[in-house]
Amino acid sequence: MSAIRIIERKSAGQTLEAGELQAFLGAYLEGDVPDYQMAAFLMAVWFRGLSGAELDAVLDTMIASGASLDLSHLDGPRVDKHSTGGVGDKVSLVLAPLAAELGLYVPMMSGRGLGHTGGTLDKLESIPGFRTDIALDDFVSILEGERFAMIGQTPEIAPLDRRLYDLRSVTGTVSSIPLIATSIMSKKLAEGLTGLVLDVKAGSGAFLPGIARALELARTMVTLGERAGVETVAMVTAMDRPLGRAIGNALEVAEALDCLAGGGPADLREVTLGLVAEMMVVGGLARDAGSARARAAAALDSGRPLERFARVVALQGGDIRAVHRPERLPAARVRRYVRARSSGVAAAIDPRTLGHGVVELGGGRTRLGATINRGVGFRLEVQVGEKVASGSTLGVVYAATSEDADRASEMLRRAIQVAPDVPQPQMPLMSHRVTATGVEQL
Ligand code: URA
Repeated sequence: MSAIRIIERKSAGQTLEAGELQAFLGAYLEGDVPDYQMAAFLMAVWFRGLSGAELDAVLDTMIASGASLDLSHLDGPRVDKHSTGGVGDKVSLVLAPLAAELGLYVPMMSGRGLGHTGGTLDKLESIPGFRTDIALDDFVSILEGERFAMIGQTPEIAPLDRRLYDLRSVTGTVSSIPLIATSIMSKKLAEGLTGLVLDVKAGSGAFLPGIARALELARTMVTLGERAGVETVAMVTAMDRPLGRAIGNALEVAEALDCLAGGGPADLREVTLGLVAEMMVVGGLARDAGSARARAAAALDSGRPLERFARVVALQGGDIRAVHRPERLPAARVRRYVRARSSGVAAAIDPRTLGHGVVELGGGRTRLGATINRGVGFRLEVQVGEKVASGSTLGVVYAATSEDADRASEMLRRAIQVAPDVPQPQMPLMSHRVTATGVEQL
């Protein structure tokens, strides 16, 4: 196997044999191919893509590089949800205990923030004491008792993806459909699932903003899931504005807790219920998404998913007092109220600017492994389409220092476009359902 030849052939747009790809990727994991050659290969894939057979070979090698969970002893469907990444996307925190309450097992392995997007692990870790690095045995026993548990990708699961993911995040090769699809699916297919629901974000806050590329990513992942025998559905959801009103780790946990108590912003509740309904259908607990959604809404309003969430927080070492009293979550010292300079309506709110804003405030990483401040972020006082009076509060910045608050206030002001009347057309909250049989516009 010649690494140089493989890079040259991929850059020239040729199709590689499965054996060649396996040997090349295996040699990388063993340390026989250096990062610079792998980076060149990833960039070649970024430009040239991967054929169906190449995708299968890369995915299989990633899964085989580590362990796969065997959860076949569980007495119910095992269904997870995965989002391709957005701003203000705290859906997993509400969805996992809710789906568990409805009878699904949810063995959720999540990631950290990537670029301008937030990550479930960083959010969970804003609950004092909460451990996302528990041993796989403990993960399985919490799952057996409570039907859900939430951890990070352990060293045992898809280590090849872990290495490639880190390299991609510093080589400008994140936004590639075959690389995103194999990365996500390698982890999900190692979870021992019977079904999977993917939340593919589209809009300016997504890694792939355009709807056509989002649909292609959705189709690619659905094909990979079905080929592995896991019923897979992808929903395309809106990321042309932030989801909910809170952006930033602890602020998002507080908003998720509100939603678990039956309140919270309507868009967060809608997307969560829509995705849980798909999980119930995929898991065979409901015949159609409409009836599943009604059952999910009733369960959410019962308060039981919140109690389940609190139990799992305790089992994973977290302080449940923060679940019942979110004011115990970390909160940044400086709060700055940003006021509107004119009247009108909130015509557009750019999620990407706010996602970068959280990173600048110290709530996301610019270097691998950097420590983050979980108490910083934004709380929007308006959502798209709402009226704005001159002098009213557009949002609140939570910052560590007053200099940070000044910069972030300007970003918040730039992100929220106040226009005299009609808002720009928005994407529907859930626009497409992609299954093995095709794409349905909702
Ligand atoms: N999430 C992943 O797990 N991998 C990617 O490449 C992008 C988002």
